[in-house]
Amino acid sequence: MKKIEIGLFGFGVVGEGIYEVLKAKKQLGANIKKVVIKHPNKKRNAPQELFTTDAHEILNDPSINLVVELIDDADAAFEIVKKSFAQGKSVVSANKKMIAEHHQELIALSRQHGVAFLYEASVCGSVPIIRNLEEYFDNDLLHSVQGIVNGSTNYILSQMTEEGTDYSTALKDAQACGFAENDPTLDVEGTDAAYKLSIIALHAFGKKIEAQNIICKGITALDAFDFQYAKEKNSVIKLIAKCHTNQEGTLEALTVVPTFVSKENSLGRTNNEYNGVLVESALADEQFFYGKGAGRYPTSSAVLSDISAYRYGYQYEYKKGNTHFVEDENCKGTFYISYPKTYNLNKLIFSSIEKEFTSTNRSFTIGELTFGMLKKSKIISTPGISVISLN
Ligand code: HSE
Repeated sequence: MKKIEIGLFGFGVVGEGIYEVLKAKKQLGANIKKVVIKHPNKKRNAPQELFTTDAHEILNDPSINLVVELIDDADAAFEIVKKSFAQGKSVVSANKKMIAEHHQELIALSRQHGVAFLYEASVCGSVPIIRNLEEYFDNDLLHSVQGIVNGSTNYILSQMTEEGTDYSTALKDAQACGFAENDPTLDVEGTDAAYKLSIIALHAFGKKIEAQNIICKGITALDAFDFQYAKEKNSVIKLIAKCHTNQEGTLEALTVVPTFVSKENSLGRTNNEYNGVLVESALADEQFFYGKGAGRYPTSSAVLSDISAYRYGYQYEYKKGNTHFVEDENCKGTFYISYPKTYNLNKLIFSSIEKEFTSTNRSFTIGELTFGMLKKSKIISTPGISVISLN
């Protein structure tokens, strides 16, 4: 059995989790030799001699063959990963921001140095979606991949819907549970989900899109009025990341937007920190992947799976290609847009209007509009305006 000597970067929620798991499971034959940390004076539940603040203790150690990168700072992580590759070390990472921002370069560098670069833990925590999209759905024509890919926002929305918790208490709870990013705006503004969707699109459809070009709306503008509307329709609001093809099988659009989902369907029943990904394909029809998307042990389980995959020489092959994605701006969707009664919504943005409603304080309009118009109108970034997909 190939001996795995690990250099670990980061000893936060997931770093400590993976340390504990590997310590308990000696039969895995993977040993953490050194851990690089930023704050040496912080009390940690591991022997002091394991820690260093000097990255070279890992990078220059020839006995370390695998770097596990679990730090928060995406720029620092990018430097660590590049240097690790240059030293002939394979890398397991959970850093979705770094991967989404530098995917092409990281793939090219790992190939150039003949090392593995694995990142199952970067998308949906414990849910094994990347390797499945890469391997299992290689032969079956994919129509769409959509899902709840951010545990924190799903936790917040579930608590608000099911328990009547207010937004800021639910967010604090998500932070206390270790689900949220250090900067939770990445979660609540949908950015974290956009990073993950960008990674998914490459493995599902062989297309690369920068996260900042994905139509993205988080959960901060949602109003009690919207939750009430969802309830009347026997629906719930979920933050859904989606990529889908047109009838010719060409990838058409990528979106991260709050979406009305029936309470009864698989995504509607995915609550709290759980993630769920619905894959639609020509032969298999619908398949649903479900599991914990955030937190110490669920994320550690994906890191562990990559460590094990490294042992048997697994590498992503990007068999579906790796070309740049250009969105079809004419692609249409049906959206519910709610706004304060005093706001003057430009109705010309809609290609057609299905329904309008006004109450004492707030109004909504439901209609069809092109994704190009959705972007151009800037309605998605206007504070206090809710945009919720009905598709
Ligand atoms: N903040 C992320 C989430 C952590 O809530 O899903 C897991 O990627």
